[in-house]
Amino acid sequence: MPGVAHLICGEPNDGFVAQHKDCDPMQLSFPIAPFEARGPLSSQLLTALSLPADDSGSSLGGFIVATAEALAGCGDVVNDDDLQLTLFLLYGLHYDDVVAADPGWEWHPTTIVARLAIERALESSLRAAIAQPPVPVSSPDAVARALFALTIDDQGPSLSRYLAQKATVDQAVEFIVHRSIYTLKEADPHSWAIPRLTGRVKAALIEIQADEYGGGRPERMHSALFADTMRGLGLDDRYAGYLDHVPALVLCSFNAMSMFGLNRRLRGAIVGHLAAFEMTSSIPSRLYGDGFRRLGLSECVTRYFDEHIEADAVHEQIAGRDLAGALAVDDPRTLPDIMFGAAVCLALDRWVANHLLAAWNDGRSSLRRPLPADVHDEPAEDHRAEDALPTRPLEIVTVAS
Ligand SMILES: [Fe+2]
Ligand SMILES: [Fe+2]
Repeated sequence: MPGVAHLICGEPNDGFVAQHKDCDPMQLSFPIAPFEARGPLSSQLLTALSLPADDSGSSLGGFIVATAEALAGCGDVVNDDDLQLTLFLLYGLHYDDVVAADPGWEWHPTTIVARLAIERALESSLRAAIAQPPVPVSSPDAVARALFALTIDDQGPSLSRYLAQKATVDQAVEFIVHRSIYTLKEADPHSWAIPRLTGRVKAALIEIQADEYGGGRPERMHSALFADTMRGLGLDDRYAGYLDHVPALVLCSFNAMSMFGLNRRLRGAIVGHLAAFEMTSSIPSRLYGDGFRRLGLSECVTRYFDEHIEADAVHEQIAGRDLAGALAVDDPRTLPDIMFGAAVCLALDRWVANHLLAAWNDGRSSLRRPLPADVHDEPAEDHRAEDALPTRPLEIVTVAS
């Protein structure tokens, strides 16, 4: 809805406004986004999105050429702040409440051409950086086994174990801030695949997604449970409220899901991504919940993780056999991308975990900038457990995420 201000933490974004001195806020049709540009490309796009799409000739003039030049001069698309934020905004036009903008931008030729250019570069970069896993035979059992083996073989650092055993409250809050970019929209990128699948494969995906969306109860939607977690930690639960705080890699993780979900030719990749995601969720979720309990936080904060212990133990079975396995049988052309999408999920999780743990081991914050002062550095009293549960002895697990 035009004119609805969406300011995060009560502050207009001074940094972004300062980069656009020619832009008279009184002339804007849509509020300036509450996050900052990260370079010339995202700066031009953010300004254009605050104007009517009919004005594209002036506001996005030269944008496609500028995108091509930015890509040509970029050595690492995955970690390029300007390109990842630009792609995040372009995908954001297809989601609700990422950025307030004229709906005409969603299918505007300029935004679509730019999106295609960046996502093709991102896909190439991911295919170059992440080895194609071996392709099993096309049977549900073989595909499920291969996917489980891939997740078990992944030798990433154990972020969940760190949270369970060592993390401070500040680090736990940082973890939630990073996770919020995907989890406040949990399941949405994978839902793009629903009309791109048919028959039993579609039915399996919907069985998983129905749980993710709360089975008809909005308060049980997993995104809503995660919003509870954020509020319990004193965080703002509005979408993208902490966008400026997360690195390009976190945006890339969400962008990869959107790319896989929004391209029918990549439907195997989004299915494989979901399978790997579900297969690496149940045990880490228990450890995350243990970590928040160790820090004395209440059920309001841990409910999201507790919910996933059982839910994803079921989802991983459906995703491995009935979703990915069935797709491989029904459309064998998708099999290499099923395995590739799973490998991308694992690699991005590993890279993000490396980023967080490297910062914390150095005694630094993992965020691009400090959180606002009104975020509690200690959990609010009403979200502390009355009697903090004793830390349970941790079982030895091999899951890495
Ligand atoms: Fe979930
Ligand atoms: Fe799940």
